[in-house]
Amino acid sequence: MELIGAQVAAPSQEALESPFPRLFDGMDLIALGAALPTPFHAYSANTIRQRISGLQAALDGLNAAICFAVKANPSLAILQIMAQSGLGADIVSSGELRRSLKAGIPANRIVFSGVGKTEAEMGEAIDVGVGRFNVESSEELEALQRAARTREAIVRASVRINPDVDAGTHDKISTGKSDNKFGVSITEARRWFAAVSCKENVRLDGLHVHIGSQILELEPFRQALHHVSVFWRELVLAGHSINSIDVGGGLGVVYRGARDKPVNVGDYVHTIREALTGFEGRIVLEPGRYLVAEAGILLTRVIRTKQGATRNFLIVDAAMNDLLRPSLYDAWHDIELIDEESDRNDLRPGTVYDIVGPVCETSDTFAIGRQLPQCRAGDLLAIRCTGAYGASMSSTYNSRPLAAEVLVDDGSYAVIRRRQSFDEMIAGEQAATLWRTA
Ligand code: LLP
Repeated sequence: MELIGAQVAAPSQEALESPFPRLFDGMDLIALGAALPTPFHAYSANTIRQRISGLQAALDGLNAAICFAVKANPSLAILQIMAQSGLGADIVSSGELRRSLKAGIPANRIVFSGVGKTEAEMGEAIDVGVGRFNVESSEELEALQRAARTREAIVRASVRINPDVDAGTHDKISTGKSDNKFGVSITEARRWFAAVSCKENVRLDGLHVHIGSQILELEPFRQALHHVSVFWRELVLAGHSINSIDVGGGLGVVYRGARDKPVNVGDYVHTIREALTGFEGRIVLEPGRYLVAEAGILLTRVIRTKQGATRNFLIVDAAMNDLLRPSLYDAWHDIELIDEESDRNDLRPGTVYDIVGPVCETSDTFAIGRQLPQCRAGDLLAIRCTGAYGASMSSTYNSRPLAAEVLVDDGSYAVIRRRQSFDEMIAGEQAATLWRTA
């Protein structure tokens, strides 16, 4: 497959560290905003490469594999950057499997996670040679055994441990508590290993843990890894061979410039090294957000301002269908006016706005009571840190077509997904003219 706007290049520090919010990976956002209709997502290729190489450097000397969590940003061009950097993929569906393969990620570098893999999806993954299944229930283990036996294949599997650890993050993105649907208790996992010989086509030789997302403290990681490490040592003493320990994703990023203090990646890897000292198998990491979130912005224009009875609204052309995080999790995203004088915003008096989209939902709100320079119709705004779980969670709600996505690389851009047309949006729909009985 042809590369879409992403040549391998050394990260351009100059482009990334510009004090001017107008510059984005060497590209003037005013010019980019003039070239394409808003709203659209833009990603900085250099920021992604820098994140990847920083994590790879921290892992130096470890037998470790990074499997990008595709759900964070499944765009083919983004997956190609991952493939070019030697990364694997963490997938949760047949769609993510096909995207990963299409982008050039080898099947043996793919791990298949998720509580609801169907037997058909498992079969497809076995057929293409997916490297490992992270199994989340005994029912799923049975289904995997059936799918593998039908194909006379032997598959590698890890049990996803639910360590009952509070990740200290938003409840809706917390996955490691015992009342969450994810993983199984160590007590149950112990039974799986004791009965492992009944699963002739499944080689259960790994452990997996993922306790949640946007984690800003080391302690929850440390606790989860401690449980995994104690269990791994117990299994080895009992004669089991453990070849893979997957520590999941979850590293937090800066959504709120003045407040969020993410874990240092070196400290994170140090915690993994400490917990798994003596482990000679493969350590798998499944970061999603950490690699792409800060590389993305959503560009949007002001449609109009509206003076409400009690609030001052700034109505923009992006909406909750383009970026769901604020509506779904009350998530904060920094928002900046991008204008000709962005280094001289004192030219416009500060004004407090509720920044909202056009969708007919009160929750279609990007920010409440946010201070911005006074805005007018047509102004360009950048909603920051939207590279993860932005476009990937978008929908066509209110019959708004999916926004375009562009990749920016050292001052040039490539459209990596064109804006959906009306015809594409309604493709597959038809009038109810053909009636059948089931
Ligand atoms: N591995 C597994 C098994 C996962 O379920 C996830 C994310 C990851 C890795 C990657 O986690 P990350 O490194 O990105 O934190 N839509 C939410 C986030 C949901 C995360 C779901 N699982 C948000 O916008 O905050």
